[in-house]
This record gives sequence, C-alpha cells and structure tokens, in this order.
Amino acid sequence: MKEQNRTEARKRIEAARLGGGEDRLQRQHDAGKLTARERIEVLLDEGTFQEIDALVTHRCTDFGMEKRRVAGDGVVTGWGEVDGRRIFIYSQDFTVEGGSLSATNAAKICKVMDMALKAGTPVIGINDSGGARIQEGVASLGGYADIFLRNTLASGVIPQLSAILGPCAGGAVYSPALTDFIFMAEGTSYMFVTGPSVVKTVTHEEVTQEELGGASTHASRSGVSHFRCRDDRHCLEEIRRLLSYLPSNNLDTAPESPCNDPVDRADPELATIVPESREKPYDMAEVLKRVVDRDSIMEVQKDFAQNIITAFARMDGKPVGIVANQPAVLAGCLDIHASVKAARFVRFLDCFNIPILTFVDVPGFLPGTDQEWNGIITNGAKLLYAYCEATVPKLTVIIRKAYGGAYDVMSSKHIRGDLNLAWPSAEIAVMGAPGAVAILFRKEIAASDEPQEVSAARTEEYENLFANPFNAAERGYIDAVIEEPETRPRLIEGLRLLAGKRDQNPAKKHGNEPL
Ligand code: HXC
Repeated sequence: MKEQNRTEARKRIEAARLGGGEDRLQRQHDAGKLTARERIEVLLDEGTFQEIDALVTHRCTDFGMEKRRVAGDGVVTGWGEVDGRRIFIYSQDFTVEGGSLSATNAAKICKVMDMALKAGTPVIGINDSGGARIQEGVASLGGYADIFLRNTLASGVIPQLSAILGPCAGGAVYSPALTDFIFMAEGTSYMFVTGPSVVKTVTHEEVTQEELGGASTHASRSGVSHFRCRDDRHCLEEIRRLLSYLPSNNLDTAPESPCNDPVDRADPELATIVPESREKPYDMAEVLKRVVDRDSIMEVQKDFAQNIITAFARMDGKPVGIVANQPAVLAGCLDIHASVKAARFVRFLDCFNIPILTFVDVPGFLPGTDQEWNGIITNGAKLLYAYCEATVPKLTVIIRKAYGGAYDVMSSKHIRGDLNLAWPSAEIAVMGAPGAVAILFRKEIAASDEPQEVSAARTEEYENLFANPFNAAERGYIDAVIEEPETRPRLIEGLRLLAGKRDQNPAKKHGNEPL
C-alpha cells in the first residue's frame, strides 16, 4: 500500500508540474513568457522552493468542470529564499483555465498569505490570470474577497509585492492594487478592470490591450504600476533587488549591505549644480546620485509624475527612502499626481521603519482649473498627512525654493522633521518675488510713472529679505545652513543619531486621512 501511494504521489506531483500540459506551456514560451514554475525558479535562490498544496484540485461540477481537474488548480504556492531571506510566493499558471481564480485556488493563496503574516515574511504574488473563474460564479468572487481582506490586514505588517506577467483582468487587478508595489513587463502584461471588448460595448471606444492597460500606460499615465520592466526575467530580478531594501516585517530592521563609498565623502561638484539664476532648472537626480552610496538608487514610479522623485537608496549601507522635488519637470511644482505618488511612498517607508530623506526645491502647488477641479486640495493634503503622521527619522535638505504651503508639506520642522538642513542657495518664503511684489505693491506700481523701475526695486528688496535661508534659520526652522559638499557626511551623521528614534502618535483606531 505504502509503495502504491508513493507511486501515486509521484504521478500526481508530475501531473501538477505539467499544469495545463506541454502544448500550453509551449504557448506560454511562444508568447515570450516564462511558465509559473520557471518564474519561481528565477525569483528564488536556487533550490530553496518548498511547494505546498501541489495536489489541490477544484470541486466545481458545473459546465463539465469535473472532467477538467488539474493537480494544483492553476496556482503554484509555497515559500523559498531571496538572498538567504525567506519569502512566501504564489504564481498563477495561465495554462490552467487561463490562471483564473477558483475557490480552491483562492484558498491556496490565502493559506500562504496567512502563513506569511504569522511568520512575518514578505509575500510575492505573480499574477497571470483572467480573473474570477467564470464557471464557479460567486464561489470565485468570494475567493477574491478572501484575498482582498488578507491583503488589507497584512498591509503595513509584511511587504506585499505583485508581478503582473500576463493579461490580468477583473479581480486579478484588485489584489495587486492593495499590495505595496506592482511590477509589469513590457508587451506581455496587461491590467484592466474590463478588457477592450467590454470597453467597446459600453463606451464605444476602440482601444488595444496595450493602450488600455499595458506596462507603459500604467507606468506613465495611471501610476498604477511602480516598476516597468523589459520582460519576465527582468521583472523578477527587479523584485529581488527591491527586496534588498526591505525589512521582512514591520518589527524587523531593513537589511544592511557592505558600504564601499566613504561615509565622509564630500563632493565639491554639489556646489556647482544649482544654477546662478533661480529660474533655471537643473537635474535633482544629479544631486541625489552624489549624496547617497554609489550606485544604490532604485527609483519608484520613475515614469509617473516626474516632477517628484521617489526612490530607495542606501546611506552607509543602510536603506533609506528619498522624496525629492525635480525642478527639471514642471519646475518641481507639486500637482495631484506628484502629491499622491509621494504620499503613498512616505506611508510605505513609515510602515516599515525606513528613514525618509527629503530634498526640497519646490515653487509651490501647481495652479490652474485642471488641478483645482480635480482636487489638488484633497490630494495635496494626502502628502501633508503622510509626512505629519510619519514617525520614522525624517531628514530634510532645502536645496533651493521652499515656497508657500509646499515648504510646510515637504517634511518641514513644524511637522516633526528631525534634522532640517539648508544649502546657501535655499529660499524659504511664502511665494516667489514676482508674485509677492505684484500683490504687495500693486497700488504703488500702478500709481508710478516708472512702474518697471518700482517693480524691480521692490523685487530686489523682497529677494534680499526672503530669497535666502536666514529668516528660517534665525527662527530655528532650519537646524543648520551647510556647505553643499558636506551633505552626505551630515546626513549620515544625522541618520546615525536618529537610528534609535522613538516617537508615536496618539492612540486611536485609525486616522481619517483625506482619501
Ligand atoms: C475561466 C478563463 C477565464 C476566466 C480565461 N479563461 N479567462 N476561464 N474563467 N475568467 C480561459 C479561456 O477560456 C481559455 O480556455 C484560456 O483561459 C486562455 O484564454 P484565452 O482567452 O484563449 O487567452 P487570451 O486570448 O490570451 O486572453 C486572455 C484574457 C481573456 C484577456 C484574460 O481570456 C479574457 O478576457 N478573459 C476573461 C476576463 C474577464 O472578464 N474575467 C472575469 C472578470 S470578473 P481554453 O480552454 O479555451 O484554452 C472578476 C470579478 C472579480 O474577476 C471582481 C472583484 C472585485
């Protein structure tokens, strides 16, 4: 009997390995995609995958489904290691009923999520699914809801990452949307609530899968995805890279890497980056590159709301999160997309105890009807709320402009910035000189025979008074005005000082952030 069962077990495990069969696995390759199991192999350290529930089958008998039972039921689940650290994983198998979600398939995913939450390890979901399994009706919808609940309860406790590596529709996109970061591959990943054919029926729009929900669309237009990758392999390598910045859970510390960049490295080039004219743009990425550990930057949502940069990096080998205005795009103004992008990133960093470095060069919130009518007030408040609530170490460097409400928002001292530094080029004021002069001296300028001269004199007066860091420094709103080359050593010293920072918010069920 024992031998018989051994043979049967091997037979079933082999069947599970084949998923939807050789032909369909080949079709997956022909489409430029890896199979569900190959993806796991690429993601994990070699030989570390421990599969569970390989023999699970669905129990549906409608539409002849009793004849279509495949061991594993279209999703491969288990755990393994990335750089020697454990993670849980599920990988949907498009060769079995289009990777669609059955009730048993959902139960498998829920099982690894529950185990991950108890063990305090990240969960990686590899999504390649046509959504709810249509033949199972509401049982499948219930399965999705079970996953959504777990995504939500695990949020802020363990990192949850989603790879979209196929055409994901319906429920298959909402679970990833509840996770921390979404990765997509060019040309093979799609995310939409309803596909092009439904769109055509309902709105009469003709749109391709790529336009509607391809990697470029979600990287640059909607901001739904955080990382756009070349293909499956690149996507999985990028997930490994991201994990190197993340702690395993909210009580863990982020992994350290050896630092081969001197902590006391002063960079004289930093003093030449900001142009003499305050109207001229420069590339903030150049500043960041020169401050953090060499080659340690991993940008998040690189193609979306490029007027703000969000990135992981390392300082002295330890992970940090960076939020930086980008004066080379929209003059670095905060608009709706930039506010939401940065707010979500700040919240992630705070969940997982990763210090926040903020680099400021912002002329204010972007004016205009488009912004106002689409809710820049509520959306800008999201960033304010996120910074105010964050209790991780917050270090701020004002590089140039810090005007108006945007000065307050960008991790100012007033909202619990721990160490606020300014370069000599910093300008901290309610608004720029032209706007201020037009309001304050409107009558004087209008009454003058030489309005241009009056305006120029008043502008100079305003600039002398406010276009500098000293007003703020005199009040202690800036802790120090530093020479540009010292930025890296000063920040690393600040991070060391704040490594054991303790701060907390009043006890409450949860706040009511301006969603
Ligand atoms: C059952 C499905 C399926 C599904 C695909 N298949 N989606 N089976 N339930 N949801 C099956 C197909 O019948 C086919 O089986 C195989 O998977 C491959 O699908 P193809 O259509 O041949 O592949 P492709 O041309 O690449 O198109 C992929 C696709 C398309 C874009 C995903 O299949 C599609 O549009 N599927 C339906 C998407 C959808 O509307 N899902 C339900 C959403 S509602 P055979 O045996 O013929 O090879 C939902 C509710 C949750 O998810 C809401 C929670 C908030």
